[in-house]
Amino acid sequence: MRHILCIALALVCAACGAHRGDSAPATPAAMAAKVLADGYPQPVELLCEADSAIIASDGFRISIPADGRATVTAPDGRGLLYGAYALLRMHTAGTDTVGADVVDNPAYALRMLNHWDNLDGTVERGYAGRSIWQWDLLPDSISPQIAEYGSRCAAVGINAAVLNNVNASPRMLDAAHLQKVKAVADALRPYGMQVWLSVNFATPMALDSLPTADPLSPAVAGWWQRKADEIYSLIPDFGGFLVKANSEGQPGPCDYGRSHARGANMLAEALAPHGGKVIWRAFVYSPADADRAKQAYLEFQPLDGQFAPNVIVQVKNGPIDFQPREPYSPLFGAMPSTPQAVEFQVTQEYLGHSNHLAYLAPMWTEFFDYVDPASLTAVAGVANTGDSHYLTGTPAADLNWYAFGRLAWNPRLTPAAIADEWMDAHVFVPGKAVPDSVRTSVRGMLLASREAVVDYMMPLGLHHLFAFGHHYGPEPWCDVPGARPDWLPRYYHRADRVGIGFDRSSAGSNAVAQYPDSLRRLFDNVDTCPEQFLLWFHHVPWTRRMHSGRTLWQELCAAYTRGVDSVDGFARTWAAARPYVRPELYDAVAADLRTQARDARWWRDACLQYFAGFSGMPLPAGVPEPGHDLDSLRRISLPITNFESPSDSLLNKFR
Ligand code: GCU
Repeated sequence: MRHILCIALALVCAACGAHRGDSAPATPAAMAAKVLADGYPQPVELLCEADSAIIASDGFRISIPADGRATVTAPDGRGLLYGAYALLRMHTAGTDTVGADVVDNPAYALRMLNHWDNLDGTVERGYAGRSIWQWDLLPDSISPQIAEYGSRCAAVGINAAVLNNVNASPRMLDAAHLQKVKAVADALRPYGMQVWLSVNFATPMALDSLPTADPLSPAVAGWWQRKADEIYSLIPDFGGFLVKANSEGQPGPCDYGRSHARGANMLAEALAPHGGKVIWRAFVYSPADADRAKQAYLEFQPLDGQFAPNVIVQVKNGPIDFQPREPYSPLFGAMPSTPQAVEFQVTQEYLGHSNHLAYLAPMWTEFFDYVDPASLTAVAGVANTGDSHYLTGTPAADLNWYAFGRLAWNPRLTPAAIADEWMDAHVFVPGKAVPDSVRTSVRGMLLASREAVVDYMMPLGLHHLFAFGHHYGPEPWCDVPGARPDWLPRYYHRADRVGIGFDRSSAGSNAVAQYPDSLRRLFDNVDTCPEQFLLWFHHVPWTRRMHSGRTLWQELCAAYTRGVDSVDGFARTWAAARPYVRPELYDAVAADLRTQARDARWWRDACLQYFAGFSGMPLPAGVPEPGHDLDSLRRISLPITNFESPSDSLLNKFR
């Protein structure tokens, strides 16, 4: 049945929520009309109706019949909004021609960003300034950046935001802060976004002095039910809670001898009457077991089938922690009776913060090569936003936000196709003809950028060689008295006189056994293990012959050298593209590439000299002599927090 008909340029939408004139659009449908009025050259018909070609909520159809007037049809306002942005993309690509008929449904109903924003305005692992929510201004004043954020999320179909850090302050749920959350929810609603909160499991103790947070205590369950009622009275479309429990010092049900499922289900029961959900993170590792890579599986897999229907278990893409390359987490596919979400990290905690160009879509599609997208219920990304000029610290990081949203909508899109969309919309000077050679080389640079980071940071399956705490720069030697062994790089690289790598084969920690049989066999055998994961799964002699015919030591040296060379190549590609690139973007990326080139050399010199101390082998011909000696590199200690990226001038003082 047909509900709405509006002509976008007239900015009139009736049943979808009135909007007329100058006030900000109040609904997604009205926002769709405004987006098209501002950005599309002709009138567009927006139809809100249950077209049988459209199956999913949020989906849309775009058709352009013989009269040339485009129509966007959707079953709801959000679908109209996403369809409006899709029509703009088609216009940019020149595919909005007569005869076009496109139906597009999202792969997931929930496509969310997780913000690690703290109430004091800092952002954990956020490299784009302070919290975009500007908590101090709320609820009376709303930062205009929130509207910009909302429109950029809507443009790629992101429909939910968890506003605060998973290391959550209990104060997030006090009455004053809930008013602030309501203000943000009201501001984001016209962009089709639903607001969620991270909660601290011990909040009833911290806020209301309950003697326990035991999920089986009726007083605790009652407290959460009343809190849920309070939240929904303010925010009727509130999404639910994201929970980090019994991980890295956070409280949780295990403090009371209860399982993760018991804890999650108690919260789920409080939210269920309101239609809310619990997203329970599986990012856990206890100091007890020898191999951290096995921990999440050991703790969560036996709980399959025990979670309430409105609980989703959210698992990081890899078994450790967002490294430049990890095999996928074997928890995926191992809990068939439990809805699962994947958690990607859009912010570049382990890929050079906002200083390095690293297009992450190839990393995320690599995950989808192993994990069937259809097996997941939702996709979450740890946001890279803040209150900086670009909202992402640097314009190149905007590509990762964009790509995350596009893949959360359609995980089968290719990184190249997404890069093309972004280049057309944001990189090249509008209206200027761009030679194919330039377009191809810039696309090639973006597609190669993550692999370059892997090469100069930790190739061949190496992982977690980062500096302690802030995770910027190399510290394969790192030793912090009293630190947990699995917080130190030596735990992961295990270099010795014989070789290097973590033996997770059946002869070692047997983490391979957590994978399905075909992959277990592949990874377990050093001869068949893909070389990109070799040192993740095996401790390999320095002298072992690799597929290339080189020894492992030579291969490692070649990879680090290739990483540096790639970044130098990116700088040349970018310089050649200069006449076609928007000037502000050009300068910002050129500056990033200069920093990245120096950092890549820092990584190469640090890792190769350090590992040479174990291999006892010289640098092969063709590998440049290090520009830094190991002792001076070992003394580097950057004075930065976990909330910032080092500036170029700071870095230049040290490396
Ligand atoms: C990493 C990261 C932390 C974060 C944690 C998490 O350990 O360094 O800052 O809190 O992941 O995902 O919970």
